[in-house]
Amino acid sequence: MTNKTLCIIKPDAVKKNLAGQIITKITEAGFKIKAMKMVRLSNESAGGFYEVHKNRPFYEELVKFMTSGPCIPIALEKENAVADYRALIGATDPAEAAEGTVRKLFAENKSENAVHGSDSDENAAIEIAHFFSRKELLENYAD
Ligand code: CMP
Repeated sequence: MTNKTLCIIKPDAVKKNLAGQIITKITEAGFKIKAMKMVRLSNESAGGFYEVHKNRPFYEELVKFMTSGPCIPIALEKENAVADYRALIGATDPAEAAEGTVRKLFAENKSENAVHGSDSDENAAIEIAHFFSRKELLENYAD
């Protein structure tokens, strides 16, 4: 599944009513929305999604934050999607993010950092499948 990436508008940004502004930045950058939903993650879902960070000291805090309110997973498509989307959102820590990036504009700190982005094509496919069924992705497909 190349040319796809997963965005999550995280609970901090949803709570602050920033979803519209963030989606506008994403679509203005040339990304196409393939599928989108608003969900309140369970501990199991958030814990599974961030399984790779299970042994990191911030894991529990991360799962608690990601289950603290609704979030908006979005499957995105664009040529070079993973790298281009990561450039658009900026560094994990908003203090280190470049001017004009989503995290520089909208994120609080390293933990509450407004958005998630996949870090590879392989993980994009896994992460998109975490939130969207094949049927949802196909039904929403429009050229
Ligand atoms: P995300 O892109 O969703 O992928 C993993 C998340 O872990 C990351 O964004 C941050 O929200 C969070 N994270 C990474 N490093 C730290 C840290 N040092 N302290 C707290 N949270 C972190």
